[in-house]
Amino acid sequence: MTALPKTQQQLHSLVTDSGELQLSLVEVPLAAPGADEVVVRVEATPINPSDLGGLFAGASWADFTPTGTPGHPALTGQVPAAALPALRPRVGERLVVGNESAGVVVAAGSNPEAQHLLGKTVALTGGEMYQQYRTVKANDCLVLDAHSTPADGASSYVNPLTSQAMVEVMRLEGHKALVHTAAASNLGQMLNRICIADGVDLVNVVRSPEQVALLRAQGAKWVVDTSSADFDVELFAAISATGATLAFDAVGGGELASKLLTAMERAISATATEYSRYGSATHKQVYIYGGLDRSPTILHRAYGMSWGVNGWLLTPFLERAGEEIVGRMRNRVATELRTTFASHYTDVISLADMLDPEKIAVYAKFATGRKFLVNPALAN
Ligand SMILES: NC(=O)c1ccc[n+]([C@@H]2O[C@H](COP(=O)([O-])OP(=O)(O)OC[C@H]3O[C@@H](n4cnc5c(N)ncnc54)[C@H](OP(=O)(O)O)[C@@H]3O)[C@@H](O)[C@H]2O)c1
Repeated sequence: MTALPKTQQQLHSLVTDSGELQLSLVEVPLAAPGADEVVVRVEATPINPSDLGGLFAGASWADFTPTGTPGHPALTGQVPAAALPALRPRVGERLVVGNESAGVVVAAGSNPEAQHLLGKTVALTGGEMYQQYRTVKANDCLVLDAHSTPADGASSYVNPLTSQAMVEVMRLEGHKALVHTAAASNLGQMLNRICIADGVDLVNVVRSPEQVALLRAQGAKWVVDTSSADFDVELFAAISATGATLAFDAVGGGELASKLLTAMERAISATATEYSRYGSATHKQVYIYGGLDRSPTILHRAYGMSWGVNGWLLTPFLERAGEEIVGRMRNRVATELRTTFASHYTDVISLADMLDPEKIAVYAKFATGRKFLVNPALAN
C-alpha cells in the first residue's frame, strides 16, 4: 500500500457576503483515518444537475471570469441578488461539492472492518466528492464486486435510488402508472428499464424526436414529445391508456406540470358517469423533483380540486421509507449496477478541467447522453 500523501487537492465553492462566487482548486492537509474510518482515493465522480446547484450557487456560468493561474485554476461569478438570502447559511463557507463517487481504499483505521476494506473498490455517497481523497466511516462504503471499476460504481446512489423511489412512491400512494419528464435523462433511462422489468406502465415525456427514438430503441412503449404539434393529444392518449395519475417532473418551469394534470383529469372525466363541478375526486399528483427549467411554474388549474404539486427530494423519502424498502432498493443496485443502473459517460475530466470555461459550457448543459465523469486522480 502506498503511503498517504500529506496534502490533497479539493475543489472549493465559496459565496462571499457580497454574493461573489469563487471557485478554486486548493491544496489542503490530508489527515490519517480514525480507527473506524478509511481513506478512499476518488477515481470517478459524476457531474449531475444537483451537483451544479451546490457548485455554482445559481451564478450564471456563461459570465464566469477566470482569476487563477494554469497551476491553480480559479473562477469568479455573481450569484443573483434574489438567490442570496437562501444562501446565507453557506456564505463564507468553503464547500466541497459532489454527491457521490467511487474509488479505491488506500488507507484504513485500526478496526478490523476498516482494515478489511484496504485495496477494495468502493462506492460512496454523502457529498464532498470533488477532491482527491475522501475519508469516510468504513460502514458507509458500498463494496463493489471484483469486476466493477470505479467508473461502474460512480453513480451507485442518486439516480439508481431516485428512479426506484419513483416506483415505490407510485405503489405507496396508490397510483397504477407513472409519468416522467426529461425522460431521456440518465435517470429516465434507468426508470424505463425498471418499469419494463417490473411491468409498470410509464409515460415518458421528452422534448425532441431524437429522444423519442432513443427511448423507443430501449423498449419504451409510451413516449410523447413536447416539441410535437400534437403533444397535448398524444399525452392525453398515453395517460388515458395507462391510467397514470402520478408524475415526476424534472423540468419544473413553465406549463408542463399543468399540462400533465390537465391530461390526467381529462382522461378520468372521459370515463366518468357522474358530473361534479369540483372535478373528479381522483387525486392527481405531480412531484417536481428537478429544476431543469428555472422559470416560474405556471398552473392553469383546469383539473378540479383533487390535485397536488409538490417538491420532491430523495433523502427525505429514504428517511420516511423505512429499512425494508431502502434495503431492497440498495440490494437491487448492487446486483444490477452494470445493467439496469448502468450510466454512460462521454467525457472523463480532472478537477482542474472542471474550472475550464470551455468544458463548463458543455457539461453545464446536461445534454442527453453527454454525461461527464470527474477523475480527481488525473493529473491537472
Ligand atoms: N430530487 C431528487 O432527489 C433528484 C435526484 C436525482 C436526480 N434528480 C434530477 O433528475 C433530473 C435528471 O438527472 P440526470 O442526472 O439523469 O440528468 P442528465 O442525464 O444530465 O439529463 C438531463 C436531461 O434533461 C433534459 N433537459 C435539460 N434541460 C431541459 C429543459 N429545460 N426541458 C426539458 N428537458 C431538459 C436533457 O435533454 P436535452 O438533451 O434536450 O437538453 C437531458 O435529457 C435532474 O433534473 C436532476 O436534478 C433529482
